[in-house]
Amino acid sequence: MNVLIIGGGGREHALALALAKSPLLTRLFIAPGNPGAAAVAEVVPLAVADHRAVVEFCRAREIGLVVVGPEAPLVAGLADDLMAAGVLCFGPSKAAAQLEGSKGFTKDFCREFGIPTGDYRRFTDAASALCYIRAKGAPIVVKADGLAAGKGVVVAMAVDEAERAVEAMFAGEFGAAGAEVVIEDYLEGEEVSFFALCDGARAVPFASAQDHKRVGDGDTGPNTGGMGAYSPPPLMMPALSARVMREIVEPTVAGMAKRGSPFRGVLFVGLMIGAEGPKLIEFNVRFGDPEAEAILARLDDDLLEFLLGCAGGALPARPPRFSERSALTVIMAARGYPGPYAKGTPIGGLDAASRTPDVTVLHAGTRRDGDALVADGGRVLAVTALGHDVAEAQARAYAAVDCIDWPGGFCRRDIGWRAIGAHRAK
Ligand code: AMP
Ligand code: GLY
Repeated sequence: MNVLIIGGGGREHALALALAKSPLLTRLFIAPGNPGAAAVAEVVPLAVADHRAVVEFCRAREIGLVVVGPEAPLVAGLADDLMAAGVLCFGPSKAAAQLEGSKGFTKDFCREFGIPTGDYRRFTDAASALCYIRAKGAPIVVKADGLAAGKGVVVAMAVDEAERAVEAMFAGEFGAAGAEVVIEDYLEGEEVSFFALCDGARAVPFASAQDHKRVGDGDTGPNTGGMGAYSPPPLMMPALSARVMREIVEPTVAGMAKRGSPFRGVLFVGLMIGAEGPKLIEFNVRFGDPEAEAILARLDDDLLEFLLGCAGGALPARPPRFSERSALTVIMAARGYPGPYAKGTPIGGLDAASRTPDVTVLHAGTRRDGDALVADGGRVLAVTALGHDVAEAQARAYAAVDCIDWPGGFCRRDIGWRAIGAHRAK
């Protein structure tokens, strides 16, 4: 079977490596891809927003499955257009992608189907939102309803901070995404990214990971798309995983089917694990980045078989097998990220880094410039290592990072600190 991956980040490079191992695979394409993925897939210059061009490509190359990495094409209805043309697609329809595309939709959905999450209210005008905030007090969380590239969330520790967030959102800071605002209770606990594969009627767990959203060591500084991840998080014991499936994932799959928009694809459950157990922070309708890099490094199974099962409405009966080992990913980003940063700075030393045992250097935002490899984004490399525990994976990942010669880049030096701290405390 021929497969087309949509996307060009570290997550898609990891997907390409995993899919390339499948005995079911004939040819693997990726659009727009990146120089790292080009080693295992044929990079095609497709304009992904042009759904007709994607459909035509799939027909011409006899693509049996399209695997969509990022959320934007899903929210824009790429899966619907592919399925209408008879092309199988891993990733939900536009209607089911509302679970990520609208926070208000998801909160109402949780209320209807009894899914544990923070209490909330939806607002379309600043005056009533401000009134609610003053009545509730801080800490409180203010969210733009729509997609805002991860920036539309303000966790306000004080009432005036929440008020400013509401005013900025209704003043158009996030454009149409902020025309509606959700205000929700602050949840306390430890965050985990949990993944489940869904075929519209059934779901199986697909491992979990812990992300590091802040840019600086010790979880300081502004939020980013994610500066590193590891899998599995020690806190995610089998009983907790079963509870998340029972209390959150299964009611979601059943609820979406009942509403006539069955969820097919990967459900990314952003969890807060607190004293009362797991609560939903948010859903995403795709793999996390950098969570996917760490999780897929541990996969000991045929990814293509599972993704096909999701898309075709027939997940394999067995859950996917994962290695007992731990995986850890360190993101190397361009200096300045998540603020303004330079593109085009040269990167060296990747061959030496890749020779570190059990290390894979994934490309997240790179491009070739003649013979040179240069940075081409904020998050640029995803250095991923396996080890018998998180500490060993961490040591290997940083040994590889230290081989990389990229004065224009930086990384956090403490990825995995929670897991390693918990282990030491035992
Ligand atoms: P989101 O874009 O919804 O993932 O939110 C970004 C980050 O804000 C999350 O990863 C959490 O760290 C934090 N956050 C979001 N909602 C809440 C909440 N209700 N309580 C506490 N923290 C939250
Ligand atoms: N790492 C968080 C995300 O992919 O949204």
